[in-house]
Amino acid sequence: MNIILLGPPGAGKGTQARHLVETRNMVQLSTGDMLREAKDSGTEMGNLVADVMARGDLVTDEIVIGLIREKLEDTTDHGGFIFDGFPRTLMQATALGELLEATGKPLDHVIQLGVDDEALVARISGRSTCGNCGEVYHDVTKPQPADGKCEKCGASDFKRRADDNEESLRNRLMEYYKKTSPLLGYYYAHNMLTRVDGLADIKEVQDSISKVLDA
Ligand code: AP5
Repeated sequence: MNIILLGPPGAGKGTQARHLVETRNMVQLSTGDMLREAKDSGTEMGNLVADVMARGDLVTDEIVIGLIREKLEDTTDHGGFIFDGFPRTLMQATALGELLEATGKPLDHVIQLGVDDEALVARISGRSTCGNCGEVYHDVTKPQPADGKCEKCGASDFKRRADDNEESLRNRLMEYYKKTSPLLGYYYAHNMLTRVDGLADIKEVQDSISKVLDA
């Protein structure tokens, strides 16, 4: 089963994708994580996208479609793909449709995580992640363990993202409304879109997504 988690920055796409990886043997394909990895390892492409990401602008379609194409070709033996943060433009959505069509395993569901802008600011400003395994925490809703060790892998190296500041977030939201939100209409018209309440607590959102996937 292949699915897209669609929603603005901070909607909970990464949090929900990680749960699906753990419970359903699915593979998370997060273009944001791939780009950050390229940036941290100082590749030519990583250097090229660093400023764009820090500002909260979108990286070019060519780069992200190329990243996804590579992953689809290289990854085998799993319970399906979760596209997290991809597609973000109509061109990316069309490319994804073609790439999946070629694998013979097209898209099954597009799940919209419905949230409001106020909640996003609170979520993004409280977010941290484990630098080793990527587990996502939040200062209020999911605090880092009191012993300072990640609950998933035991590492004690927590990070905050360079683009998790108010100015960049404002820009990320503008980019979402201008370029990504039209995908809601696109997938609705393809009869693939289901909206779940992304403002509910993490476990409730997990349950709502499970209901969609198991229906
Ligand atoms: P990306 O990494 O994709 O970031 P994003 O879309 O801005 O989304 P986030 O990772 O910020 O949020 P999320 O929805 O995953 O929320 P999370 O689960 O962490 O992209 C970064 C940049 O890369 C882009 O700006 C762009 O420059 C570039 N890029 C990436 N993909 C691209 C593409 N396809 N095309 C072009 N450019 C691209 O949750 C947030 C916080 O809330 C956490 O602290 C979490 O614990 C908490 N939380 C989650 N769910 C709940 C809940 N239900 N209740 C309470 N708290 C919750």
